[in-house]
Amino acid sequence: MSDNDKEKSGKKVSYWEVFMDDIFLLFFLSIAILYISYTVWGLMELGTAKPSPLLSPSVASAEAPAAAVAKNYWADWAKGKAQGPMPDCNVNVLALGGDDILQATVDIYCGVKPGSYTSKINPAVMDIYNAKGDTYPDGKTGVLIFEDIGVVFSTDHKGGQPIYDVLTIKEEKSIASSEAGHPLNPKTCEKCHATFDGVCVGYVCGNRF
Ligand code: HEC
Repeated sequence: MSDNDKEKSGKKVSYWEVFMDDIFLLFFLSIAILYISYTVWGLMELGTAKPSPLLSPSVASAEAPAAAVAKNYWADWAKGKAQGPMPDCNVNVLALGGDDILQATVDIYCGVKPGSYTSKINPAVMDIYNAKGDTYPDGKTGVLIFEDIGVVFSTDHKGGQPIYDVLTIKEEKSIASSEAGHPLNPKTCEKCHATFDGVCVGYVCGNRF
């Protein structure tokens, strides 16, 4: 019904009727409702969004800490031969009966103040370890345990090649470094375990005596 018709019929026209009759006002109202509801929805989503794991791995991992392991995979392994205190940086271990490779190890790691260490060897390779064999099967080989700082160095083997890592004891999470020359970079492990005058047979050092 047009306004003219209504005026002629003498009835008072309510604002609602005018509004509802206007297809363009209805159209804009629907746009406005969509605009507001989608904006509010978007803000709500933004408010509940977690930081992207791509943007900052450290923040994202702080949100969801790795669960502490109930039992370390090396818990039931037998002790290896490598064990001792990590002497202070100014100590000459050669004078104490140590060898060159031990002195080099102390020189690299004394600054970390790792405390004393023990080692454990996977029972599956214990025979090879005791016989100073140079070929280890695929799988976990040994760990060097620094209880005081809650860290282990691990050596695994794959296709005859060594894989080095640095793990937290609590979560078995890798904290190996990719920084060149860093003491916890697997390349640093390799420099010693793979090339130090061939002292470490099969990339294992503790059984060298
Ligand atoms: C400068 C030399 C040197 C570097 C670098 C080094 N190691 Fe060793 N590693 C040794 C020596 C020497 C022993 C044996 C210690 C002993 O006899 O008391 C050893 C022992 C170990 C053991 C115990 C099993 C074994 O081979 O007897 C593991 C596991 C190990 N290292 C892993 C690592 C990892 C992982 C890194 C790098 C984060 C690393 N090592 C860096 C020299 C080194």
